[in-house]
Order: sequence, then C-alpha cells, then structure tokens
Amino acid sequence: MLDPSADEIRDWGTSVIQLVADYLGDLRDRPVYRRMSSCEIRDRLDAALPTKGSDFDGLLKVFREDIIPFSRQNAHPRMFGYVQSPGTPLAAFADLLASILNANLTVWRSAPAPVELERLTIDWIRQILGLNARAGGLFVSGGSMANLAAIAAARQTKDDSSGRLRIYASRETHFSVAKAAALLGIGRNNVCHVAVDERFKIRVDDLVAKITADLEEGYVPFCVVANAGTVNTGAVDPLAEIREIADRFQLWMHVDGSYGAFAVLAESARKLFGGIERADSIALDPHKWLYLPVDVGCVIYREPEIARSAYGHEAEYTRIIGEEADEAFAFWDYGPELSRRFRALKVWMLLKGVGLDFLGEAIESNLACARHFESMVRASDDFEMLAPVALSIFCFRHVPVQLRSQSPETIDAFNERLLIALQRDGSSYLSNATLGGRFALRGCVLNYRTTLRDMEILLDDLRRVARSLPTSA
Ligand SMILES: Cc1ncc(COP(=O)(O)O)c(C=O)c1O
Repeated sequence: MLDPSADEIRDWGTSVIQLVADYLGDLRDRPVYRRMSSCEIRDRLDAALPTKGSDFDGLLKVFREDIIPFSRQNAHPRMFGYVQSPGTPLAAFADLLASILNANLTVWRSAPAPVELERLTIDWIRQILGLNARAGGLFVSGGSMANLAAIAAARQTKDDSSGRLRIYASRETHFSVAKAAALLGIGRNNVCHVAVDERFKIRVDDLVAKITADLEEGYVPFCVVANAGTVNTGAVDPLAEIREIADRFQLWMHVDGSYGAFAVLAESARKLFGGIERADSIALDPHKWLYLPVDVGCVIYREPEIARSAYGHEAEYTRIIGEEADEAFAFWDYGPELSRRFRALKVWMLLKGVGLDFLGEAIESNLACARHFESMVRASDDFEMLAPVALSIFCFRHVPVQLRSQSPETIDAFNERLLIALQRDGSSYLSNATLGGRFALRGCVLNYRTTLRDMEILLDDLRRVARSLPTSA
C-alpha cells in the first residue's frame, strides 16, 4: 500500500475517477444535507486502531458509503450557506498532482518551478486587482490567515511599544480581524467597531470621529480595514474614500476582499471596487469566488518589503547560501508559514484553463441569481428583504400572512425554525445572520452550477417547508 506498483496505481486511479464521475454526475439529485447525528456516523466508522492495513477498494468503499452521504454537499447548486465554493474537477486534479510532486514552497531552491508558478499566479491576481507592478504576495490557507498576515505587516509602520495601537473596521467586519489583533498582541479591544449605514457599509463620518477621539486620548491609530464584500450582506465599503482617510491620518489601508474581491471580474460589479488598487494590502480567497476547493487564500502587499520587515528571520538552518536575487527568494520572508503546499497549481490551472472571460461570466451569473431572488422577494407578499443585495449575498425572512401582526421576536423564532427545517429537508441550504438585531435567513450564490431556476426552487422549498411548521413554538 505504501509503494504501489504502476499497475496498482492505474487500478486505484480508475476506481477513483469512476467514483468522481458518478458523484458529480448525479450531484443535483442528491440532498444538500440530511438529518444525522455524531453517534450515527461514529457507529459506521471502524474505530479500532489499525495495526494491519486494508485494501484500497475497502478504503474507497468507506468514502463512498460513510463519508459522502454524511457530508454537506458543498458543490450542490443550491448550497447557499456561508461563503462556500463548490470546487471544480480541474482543481481537484491539480491538488492530486501537487501532492504527488509534494513540492514544499519554502524558498526558490526547494521548488524552483512551483515557486515561479506561484509568483506568476500572484502577479496575475495583482493585475486583476490593478495594483502597481511592485506589489506582490503569496498564497496562504485562507482569508483569516491573509488578514493576519496583512495586519502583522501593517503593524510594522508604527511604533507599537506603547501598547496602544488601534485598528478601525466596520461592525460588519469578519471576526478573523479581531482574532488577528488578539493573536498579534494588539488586543481584541483595540479593534474599534465603526458604525454602518443602512446598506451596511462603513460610515466614514464615524470612522473619522473615532480616529480623532482616539488620537486625543493618546492611542496610536495604525490600520483601517475596509470590506470588499462583508460576510453578512456582501456590502462593499467606499474604498476610495477610505484611502483618503487613511492618507489623512497616515494609516495602513487593508482590504478584506476574502469573499468579494474577485467580483471585480464581473462587469456589473467592477465600479464598486474603485480604489482597491491603492490599498496597502488585500486579503482574498481563491477558495471562495474563484470556485476552488479549500484551502487557498491570498495576501497581496503594495510594498512587499514592509511585510519582509515583519517576517524576515535569520536562522542558521534557513540561511540561503550561494544564491542571488531571484533565486534567493524565500516565501517565509513574506508570511507566517515555513512549509507550504503547492497551492498555486490549482489557481494557475483554473486561470489558465478557464480564462478570465469565462470566470467573469460565471461570477456575473451568480450576481444575477442573487438579484433575481431579491426581485422575487420584493414582489412577494410573504417574504421581505432585510438588506439590499450588493453582490451575491441575500438576507431576508419569511413573514406568512398569519405572522404579520406578531412581535418581532415571534417572527425571528419562526424563521429560526424554518432555517433548521429547510436544512433538514435537504433540497436547498441557507445559513443565517443577525441584522439590526433581527434574525435573517442568509444565502450566498458562489457556484457556477446555480441557475435562476434554482433561486425559484429555493423560494418554493421555503414555502413548502414553512407550511409544515407551526407558526408559534
Ligand atoms: C469577508 C470574509 N473575511 C474573512 C473570511 C475568512 O476566510 P477563511 O474562512 O478562508 O479563513 C471570510 C469567510 O467567510 C469572509 O467572508
């Protein structure tokens, strides 16, 4: 099993490819999710410590019968929960090839061609975002790590000995920013939550007021985080205005585009991102709106040398001997990881294989699905939107006629029960958000398989499932 022959590899490969083709072939007919329990799954798995091996067919059988049916089908066209990409076979093959080569992208000499491919692919992403040619970055595990990496670089720009550094970000900002502040020793409490307007965008007047008040109290403002697609509603903060404020107060401007930034590829959304090219750093997730399987996030720095001052570390066993310039390049100088998998291969295969035009159209189609859903909700008398659709996220609730005169708490409780019932029903999957203190059903279209018809099925599913629920608990 550890070192199969060429013939065995062909046999295993044939079985795996058959399974993949079968799985994807009838994905649309599977439930997105099913009711299950931890105990039920554990009972199916052979828990005995395996002292002797088993054959490949046996392992694949467990995957087919005990893993697939007891997983959420993230590639399903009506998987609307969270910010979930579907993955794509092209990238799955890239991941397989990356693991076979098992390149470790620490420094150039450890993986010359893979490192060049990562630098090339990062440069393509830089061009997509419109940053200057000096900008650069690297792939990391996801958006949370990209935010952490960028905030660590931002910290280099101010003297942090006072312990009074401050970050500013709207209330709608993803929790990974506060987590990064905590991990970097800046402190969760030093992330100032700025108010948002009725479209859930940061209020720049409140941003300026908070920075000014902090300066008067002796804090050291150093970074403002702007959202290019918030996780709750998809709101895009006014990036150009935030750049001006950052310049006025000499702050680092970081953009969290983990969910939304690749929507710059879609014609109808492009104007929302004006100013992103002047950010000091950007976090974005190819494993979200480039449809790739986890894990691949990305951080781009406008001035990579500042990041280098945060991460550069001379240890004797990592010292690069006898190399010059390009060949002395080390990713560990620009991010927190040392050993790094060949994430770039799947990004490169996708961009090169599919092309930006087609990706832009797929993203445009996701935006159209969310807008279609919004217009159906607005035209209905039993659903209402709780936030305007900015990108592909839609937040709404069901208010059937018999609930209209009920208290907000009763309507919240009904929608919570509806969410759970919908997830267990399995035809469509939503998650939730809290907006202005109210419970919202929340969906995010992030799948090239999703059609306008799927949005109509979602609404039908909600009405059907709601009819089976009592209106009070
Ligand atoms: C806006 C935003 N930022 C950061 C993250 C964290 O990304 P990841 O899950 O890749 O760590 C998310 C995840 O949904 C997000 O939507």
